[in-house]
Amino acid sequence: MKKTVLLLLAVSISLLAEDGASIYTQKCQSCHGKNGEAAALNKALPIAGWDKAKTIEAMNGYKNGSRNTTGLGKIMTPKAQPLTDEQIGAVAEYISTLK
Ligand code: HEC
Repeated sequence: MKKTVLLLLAVSISLLAEDGASIYTQKCQSCHGKNGEAAALNKALPIAGWDKAKTIEAMNGYKNGSRNTTGLGKIMTPKAQPLTDEQIGAVAEYISTLK
């Protein structure tokens, strides 16, 4: 029983990591760069290595339309809105590993 729980935990953690990477590659990389190094549309700060909580906070701000740091918040809102809290957490985790 204990082993099964541990196994399930390990599987879900690795799925989460994979999910974050694939969300980033498919939905964020085109503007933020392969490793989060780009200034998206020449405006945003490079997000590589951002603390997970900081990215989650930014994404939630875009999701509810309250964040707009460079005047292009409206571009991020439709990127953030379709993501669930779990997906935002996973992609934020991934971004925190980027250098
Ligand atoms: C179409 C280009 C584009 C795509 C795709 C995109 N972004 Fe952005 N992102 C921007 C722009 C432009 C800004 C600056 C918005 C503003 O003015 O607040 C930004 C800002 C951000 C910020 C805050 C950076 C700062 O300067 O404060 C984070 C974090 C972020 N994006 C994460 C993501 C994630 C995660 C994804 C994928 C789910 C994503 N972005 C997809 C263009 C994009």
